[in-house]
Amino acid sequence: MSNLSKLLKESWTLVEEYQDKVAGYFYARIFLSHPQLRDLFPVQMDVQRARLLGAIVTAVQSLDDPERFDEYLRSLGRDHRKFHVNPEHYDVVRVALLEALRTFAGEQWSIEYDQAWRDAYDVIARKMIAGADADTNPPYWHAEVLTHERRGADIAVFTCRPMQPLEYRAGQYVSIECRYQPRLWRVYSMANAPRKDGTMEFHVRALGAGWVSSALVRRLKVGDMIRLAAPMGSLTLERKSTRDIVCVAGGTGLAPIKALVEELTRYNRTRWVHLFFGAKHRDDLYDLADLNRLAARYPWLSVVSAVSEDPGYGGEQGNISDVVARYGPWKEHDFFVSGSPAMVKATLRRLAELQIPSIRIKYDAFGDM
Ligand SMILES: Cc1cc2nc3c(=O)[nH]c(=O)nc-3n(C[C@H](O)[C@H](O)[C@H](O)COP(=O)(O)OP(=O)(O)OC[C@H]3O[C@@H](n4cnc5c(N)ncnc54)[C@H](O)[C@@H]3O)c2cc1C
Ligand code: HEM
Repeated sequence: MSNLSKLLKESWTLVEEYQDKVAGYFYARIFLSHPQLRDLFPVQMDVQRARLLGAIVTAVQSLDDPERFDEYLRSLGRDHRKFHVNPEHYDVVRVALLEALRTFAGEQWSIEYDQAWRDAYDVIARKMIAGADADTNPPYWHAEVLTHERRGADIAVFTCRPMQPLEYRAGQYVSIECRYQPRLWRVYSMANAPRKDGTMEFHVRALGAGWVSSALVRRLKVGDMIRLAAPMGSLTLERKSTRDIVCVAGGTGLAPIKALVEELTRYNRTRWVHLFFGAKHRDDLYDLADLNRLAARYPWLSVVSAVSEDPGYGGEQGNISDVVARYGPWKEHDFFVSGSPAMVKATLRRLAELQIPSIRIKYDAFGDM
């Protein structure tokens, strides 16, 4: 561990137990000194769910190797254009961050700690600002909802079309905001490869108390306008790879996987694609009929479905990670994994046990791992 990250980790332990208070102070400090910044943040904002402070702390703490995060930080900076963030705002946030940390750390806070946070923050901010400056896209796209279909109690599949072209790669995701939860952005993966008519499909599961997902599933309707921000993510196909492919999807984690399959339908003839689709109950296998249609049409595609809490189901039983391990062997395959953090974690653990080199595994977890 570098000296910088040692200082960052050590100093964070001084305030960790007061996280909510640190956050309260941090936001109050920003909004009191710069009231106009309040308009950048969600209308309904409670400190526990507010995202900025936690995100900065995570970014700063993982700064051991800033170059590794270069592309991520640039795209995060580009993505921040959707919030109307400009370079001066970074100073305001840094001042508030340091003051909040200092206030709650008490006497053990030192000049070294102060400098470490300042340095780490500035490295990140510079990369984010550079990413935003270099971006020639609009800060966000307006898109019209074209179709909206409920697939069971908690899942919806909807399509929309941006008013201006939005270029992305199959497997990527975008932030979405809708009028039912203004200025609250959450990321969702496109479930289709880019199409000539520009339409984009999304698969969303409403989490119990989730603000944006519930609105997208239960309130969004045809004709609504939503906003989309710049595409991000690297769960994308290497066209040059000749390896066969294993896709592992949990619930709406199917979305980016389906986009990859759609891309493959355009050129693939030689790579076998094994798609594993898992959920708790059969009702959550919301897109299985379409997957089976694709498998019937493309001889290189096979689909295995599994449920973990539905004993009467005729397909495979168990967690999808275990089901994948039962098939195989998978020594020479490229892997794409997508789903809840628990599902992704379990699958990565399984693949490690099967001695699959991590370089051949790409994954997106739908939350913090
Ligand atoms: C790269 C990526 C791609 C994603 N793609 C998709 C996608 O294609 N489709 C999709 O549906 N989602 C996707 N997500 C998840 C999505 O971004 C949101 O996190 C999710 O929809 C919840 O947002 P929310 O505003 O509804 O919930 P929030 O209001 O942000 O609350 C979510 C929090 O509430 C808690 N929570 C509340 N209820 C529940 C519950 N029933 N179960 C578990 N936790 C609960 C959890 O702690 C969670 O952290 C993706 C996430 C990432 C990081
Ligand atoms: C080191 C600098 C920063 C980092 C690492 C960072 C990182 C992040 C991340 C990862 C998110 C969550 C992603 C999302 O919801 O799309 C976020 C949200 C946000 N950021 Fe930043 N950010 C930084 C600086 C700033 C600055 C200077 C501003 C301007 C005031 C800002 C405004 C916001 C807003 C408004 C949100 C949404 C908050 C919410 O939904 O609760 N960020 N940031």
